[in-house]
Amino acid sequence: MSLRLTVIGTGYLGATHAVCMAELGHEVLGVDVDPDKIGALRAGRVPFYEPELEQLLAKHTASGRLRFTTSYEEAAEFGQVHFLCVGTPQRKGSDAADLTYVDAVVEALGPHLTRPALVAGKSTVPVGTAARLARRLAELAPAGARAELAWNPEFLREGFAVQDTLRPDRLVLGVRSAAAEALLREVYAPVIAAGTPVVTTDFPTAELVKTAANAFLATKISFINAMAEVCEAADADVSVLARAIGHDERIGARFLRAGVGFGGGCLPKDIRAFVARAEELGTGRSLAFLREVDAINLRRRDRVVELARELCGGSLLGKRVGVLGAAFKPESDDIRDSPSLNVAARLRLDGADVSVYDPKAMDNARKSHPLLGYALSAEDAVRGAEVVLHLTEWREFRELDPAALAPLAHHPRIVDGRGALDAAAWTDAGWDFHSLGRAPGAFKAAP
Ligand code: UDX
Repeated sequence: MSLRLTVIGTGYLGATHAVCMAELGHEVLGVDVDPDKIGALRAGRVPFYEPELEQLLAKHTASGRLRFTTSYEEAAEFGQVHFLCVGTPQRKGSDAADLTYVDAVVEALGPHLTRPALVAGKSTVPVGTAARLARRLAELAPAGARAELAWNPEFLREGFAVQDTLRPDRLVLGVRSAAAEALLREVYAPVIAAGTPVVTTDFPTAELVKTAANAFLATKISFINAMAEVCEAADADVSVLARAIGHDERIGARFLRAGVGFGGGCLPKDIRAFVARAEELGTGRSLAFLREVDAINLRRRDRVVELARELCGGSLLGKRVGVLGAAFKPESDDIRDSPSLNVAARLRLDGADVSVYDPKAMDNARKSHPLLGYALSAEDAVRGAEVVLHLTEWREFRELDPAALAPLAHHPRIVDGRGALDAAAWTDAGWDFHSLGRAPGAFKAAP
């Protein structure tokens, strides 16, 4: 059955959720305080790159199932369920999460909730937040109104956001009443009917499922990157090692790609906020290892800078470095905490003449890092380079022809910072090929 839903916050998570809820058949009202975002969405423009999203937005603004507003009053009047999808960035000068936006939504929406409604939080929050928001909602909602809270964390990955929302690995419903659970099951009825497992639980467990999942994924990446450090020292090959241990089903092959490490708007800040929250709860020791996970991750960026310096003969001053990739991962134009841009900026600080190219993230990169040099294409980034760094594994880069590129570089030297290029093909085409997790000079051209 079709429900009336609002989705509050139309950033990455909210815009995707709103569009996908309309795709499930609901009447959806997207809400944001930013009139520019609302204006863009009304005009059918998604303010970021995400495969499939713009087509689905067009489909549902045309079908009339999806509308947008800046008015909380209208939202409260309209919705049976209000999804809370605002950001929880890292607080300035601290590791903890900044809950300003989450709190602001509850403050703004609560007093208007004159009809029975369920507010379902999706944002990633420190454990304990849902219970606090439920208390606040009860204080704010007008007398007699039945406004309830639920926690329904989101696990979508950028680049696969639509698929992850329509066909998630699981749904987690943190609820305090059977009515709240029933309503959420109605929202997700087509997803549940397709066989998606549902885990129903209390607020703190629901909140923790999300942070624990992110912590595990980050740990898996840092584990393989720690192995990469050992492989570099022991003359071993981390990509073979990862493949071999991944065959063990208990370990699993995914999220074992060694390289320049994780970035983006979620994993780095979420593991820091998780540690900060555990410390507040007096159990900091339990998550102390996540500080090491963070440190290993950041060390990989240092290693790429070091390797570039070594390959340029000990100094980066005036050396041209081509950087392939600016987004924190492929199929995204998101540059938040991007390892590639962090490395590029540090190379420039050390005097290198950096030339960055990315298939989708150029505008965002230029805005946030205006002092870096930018190229119009991968070929352009390689032209005249002393060393080329492959730092975001776009398919376009995997499909480059190393033989055609070799004559463009000043020195055909490349560091594969994502373990994604075909080492034999690049080496055979005359490139001096390096990758993270293998000893320097490990790749030799075929005799
Ligand atoms: C992540 C979680 O996967 C998702 O469930 C959560 O909701 C939000 O955070 P996302 O940030 O979109 O999603 O990206 P993800 O695909 O998880 O990649 C994160 C980072 O790890 C990227 O920088 C990626 O390049 C890196 N990564 C991933 C590796 O370095 N190695 C791997 O094997 C996998």
